[in-house]
Amino acid sequence: MTEAYEEELGDAADGYRRMWRELLPVGRFQETGGYRRFAWTSADAECRAWFAEQAAARGLTYELDRNGNQWAWYGDPDAGDAVVTGSHLDSVPDGGAYDGPLGVISSFAALDALLASGARPTRPIAITNFVDEEGARFGVACVGSRLTAGVLTQDQAFRLRDADGIWLPDAMAAAGQDPDAIGKDEARLARVGAYVELHVEQGRSLDATPHAVGVASAIWPHGRWRFDFHGEANHAGTTRLEDRRDPMLTYANTVLAARKKAKLAGALATFGKVSVEPNGTNAIASLVRGWLDSRAADETTLTALVDEITAAATERAERDGVRAEIVRESYTPVVDFDDALRDRLVSILGPDTPVLPTGAGHDAGILSGVIPTAMLFVRNPTGVSHSPSESATEPDCLAGVAALAKVLEEMTCR
Ligand code: GLV
Ligand code: MN
Ligand code: MN
Ligand code: MN
Repeated sequence: MTEAYEEELGDAADGYRRMWRELLPVGRFQETGGYRRFAWTSADAECRAWFAEQAAARGLTYELDRNGNQWAWYGDPDAGDAVVTGSHLDSVPDGGAYDGPLGVISSFAALDALLASGARPTRPIAITNFVDEEGARFGVACVGSRLTAGVLTQDQAFRLRDADGIWLPDAMAAAGQDPDAIGKDEARLARVGAYVELHVEQGRSLDATPHAVGVASAIWPHGRWRFDFHGEANHAGTTRLEDRRDPMLTYANTVLAARKKAKLAGALATFGKVSVEPNGTNAIASLVRGWLDSRAADETTLTALVDEITAAATERAERDGVRAEIVRESYTPVVDFDDALRDRLVSILGPDTPVLPTGAGHDAGILSGVIPTAMLFVRNPTGVSHSPSESATEPDCLAGVAALAKVLEEMTCR
């Protein structure tokens, strides 16, 4: 299998492997083998420096936009109607190697393959690295693309703070980005004709098919809600059970309720992050703060599910003598990718190419509100993602590069 793409991709396959060798050590946490590349940290800066080097090595025009997204242009950026491809280089806590970087590396490799084949694009092509896609540090995902599309305002971004109390604008400024410049970037979007993001699949739909590459149809609506349960700190050894106002109980019951109600709704609800104050073994907690990530195939189901979880949490809080405060931190409506572009990708890659929805969020989903957008997924044999054990085989990844090169060629050279 690999050999077939070796021949098709030529030196671009070597370049693909070299890029992985360069990027794999960056931000890797030795103890877990996962990545900790959080926005505006030193690991992120290393990834960003790598991106700028890739642009320079190919003679591409490098741009850092007002929101901190990176662009590498083949052709004249101002010519308009560009075909843009790329993904992100940041990660979730202990994320896998592929979520994000596969799209960026494949974009450079696909452009290499396209140009090596002698093709001469007549539309500009840009490769992007969207900043802070995962939202691991400040809580809101897809910050770079949300700012660009105008669905996150400067005001809202300025109110984001990380777990150490560092405000997003201060983190940006410390990394050399002017936070006062951030905001909707209509001038940049006006240059773009289409955005195509290649991404490792984060499920096993393709594994059930003979296909290494699929095309996205839709992204489930999803959001993040913060549940604050305020109780009363007290001594674990001297406070009678009936005298306690223990927010841990409220939290535990809310987690169970979320799981049960999500199952009944045929949807998803996850509490994957929690913080406890004062966080002492021999003290009843004064505050438990848990973050709910919930997703469903449609918005009615999602809203109803989150309402039910909220009601369960509120009722239980009352029983526990705890004050509950529930805040929606971010929300992404359902995304139906551009029909014409999706159909075009399928016709380029072959009529039997699988077309599949996903529950995972992407910059492509945010951008689909303002420009025609599509996605390619590369098979993931275990479906595991947001984990160090995320995987994809090299032949499948090279098939992804070849597919993206074909898409770029069809879209820019015909
Ligand atoms: C991002 O990867 C998300 O879907 O949470
Ligand atoms: Mn992700
Ligand atoms: Mn991703
Ligand atoms: Mn994502």
